[in-house]
Amino acid sequence: MCGIFAYLNYLTPKSRQEVLDLLVTGLKRLEYRGYDSTGVAIDSPDNKNIVMVKRTGKVKVLEEAIQEHFSGGEYSEPVLTHIGIAHTRWATHGVPCERNSHPHRSDEGNGFVVVHNGIITNYNDVKTFLSKRGYEFESDTDTEVFAKLVHHLWKTHPTYSFRELVEQAILQVEGAFAIAVKSKHFPGECVASRRSSPLLVGIKTKTRLATDHIPILYGKDDKKLNPDQDADSGKQQVLPRSESTSEFMPLEEKEVEYFFASDASAVIEHTNRVIYLEDDDVAAVRDGTLSIHRLKKSLDDPHAREITTLKMEIQQIMKGNYDYFMQKEIFEQPDSVVNTMRGRVRFDGNAIVLGGIKDYIPEIKRCRRLMLIGCGTSYHSAVATRQLLEELTELPVMVELASDFLDRNTPIFRDDVCFFISQSGETADTLMALRYCKQRGALIVGITNTVGSSICRESHCGVHINAGPEIGVASTKAYTSQFISLVMFALVMSEDRLSLQQRRLEILQALSKLADQIRAVLKLDSKVQELAKDLYQHKSLLIMGRGYNFATCLEGALKVKELTYMHSEGIMAGELKHGPLALVDDSMPVLMIVLRDPVYVKCMNALQQVTSRKGCPIIICEEGDEETQAFSSRHLEIPRTVDCLQGILTVIPMQLLSYHIAVLRGCDVDCPRNLAKSVTVE
Ligand code: M6R
Repeated sequence: MCGIFAYLNYLTPKSRQEVLDLLVTGLKRLEYRGYDSTGVAIDSPDNKNIVMVKRTGKVKVLEEAIQEHFSGGEYSEPVLTHIGIAHTRWATHGVPCERNSHPHRSDEGNGFVVVHNGIITNYNDVKTFLSKRGYEFESDTDTEVFAKLVHHLWKTHPTYSFRELVEQAILQVEGAFAIAVKSKHFPGECVASRRSSPLLVGIKTKTRLATDHIPILYGKDDKKLNPDQDADSGKQQVLPRSESTSEFMPLEEKEVEYFFASDASAVIEHTNRVIYLEDDDVAAVRDGTLSIHRLKKSLDDPHAREITTLKMEIQQIMKGNYDYFMQKEIFEQPDSVVNTMRGRVRFDGNAIVLGGIKDYIPEIKRCRRLMLIGCGTSYHSAVATRQLLEELTELPVMVELASDFLDRNTPIFRDDVCFFISQSGETADTLMALRYCKQRGALIVGITNTVGSSICRESHCGVHINAGPEIGVASTKAYTSQFISLVMFALVMSEDRLSLQQRRLEILQALSKLADQIRAVLKLDSKVQELAKDLYQHKSLLIMGRGYNFATCLEGALKVKELTYMHSEGIMAGELKHGPLALVDDSMPVLMIVLRDPVYVKCMNALQQVTSRKGCPIIICEEGDEETQAFSSRHLEIPRTVDCLQGILTVIPMQLLSYHIAVLRGCDVDCPRNLAKSVTVE
């Protein structure tokens, strides 16, 4: 949900044009987070003002506007120190348009400009407070109140530093946000903060840093503005000032560049040294020095924030020879599944070690039940593996959509073990559900792809799925890696069950063949493309299956909906005669998954129910299964594997099909309308 990028060069000459290029490239990397409008703010050539460019639409539109307005002349002069902030938006408050695009400003003079990701939930109260003091608002956003609040505090507290002003403003706002602020009153300074929305600081220096830690400073106040107080009296409202400890030893380098970004993909081409900010951290750069502040000290606070070295490679976030990130990510799956298992599955000794949870396994084995919680595709990975988890753990397994789980105030107990599955590790619904369960004393296990994400940090233990960066909004390789992570967990849980050893062996052997089998399924690409040509002009697609393949139906239908804007429904084949069969006729497109597993006979019944209503389904079946193929002229054959892993092979044709239909329908595959990759609002 929205991408923030800010760049600060200190004693590192860069022209404004170069700064703008950096900002635009940063936004392009973050575009998957939101792409309905964009904007940047930099200093004017005389350094006396801030200029902003905003556009409705994608970063490309902004880039063209920048080229038009800022080429040559004074914009190509090098500047020693400069700050630019930039934003790509996924609208929450106010329709996508230039007026609602970020950065938002404090006043007509652009004194303070702000980029923001998330939602300020009490923005109406703050707006009332500021309106009473004469502020007029020019957008429909919640963000604008923040810029104006900082301005109000600046006017009423003229001795405050930039960082203190932002801190005081943060104390007044509620909700989830990440922000970066620039000011013409504080040239050369940038202040950024986060609460429940991700933000990191990348650091680039010529020489290696003398320290790997940035000490934390503390303030000690928490006073709220009263919207009704002193509005009419004109009296200044006195806010307490935060105080710092004396042990402050900031990171100080002569020449340094800082990057503030919503995620690591936007900084990796510049530096691999980053600090992941925690909730309520306020990071401030002044005179080239970065310091990190907290408003209040809590007992479990560390003394410093660690500088992390990113393992990511730049190639991982480039499209290479593929047309779309989604296409690249589908074709990466033979490797990504191996990376998920790497160092964990020992095929020779039939052993599995999940380093991130091994110490908790005895506790997990004693639990009352397993709860698997996630949204969208991540939820489907839980549906896909529930049956195996029930079989191999012999525990009750509940699978929950995070939003619904919270709506129901689901009872949670200290002896519950709750898994939170999330590619981004930042999904607000999932994160809220995690906090809900943590408060109630349950053990929290994170299954995430994004190292350093909120879910990852707030879990007691977990598994990184190691699928590599997933940029396409539609989740593909993360799904298969989440699936495998949960299968590995089931195998760990059954390690000492004698009666389950044969079953475990069968699964381990199947895992060892999986990468090659995925390669074989990917070879169906051109056949799937032909099927897409038959389907892309239809309005609807029904996807039917049961047992281990029901999750593929749900996931396939989600992919079709989000990428192609066609209606699609994943139907449990057992439910067909309870309603959905009424949809079937000779013109309704149907896809059925019919594999040789314990529910084969039941799937065949469903197939016959469909064909006897003149339905002509596309069938996903096993290689060489002529008996099943006889029911339709259109089929996709996939290699045989153990029942509980079939879902990995059957989902790939669905990913390819939705991709090809989207291309044929002229949809933007990587950036489907109305969506964003990381859903950081509830
Ligand atoms: O980052 P997460 O896995 O928590 O995201 C959850 C869903 O928003 C996500 O899977 C979404 O459904 C995908 N766009 C589907 O392709």
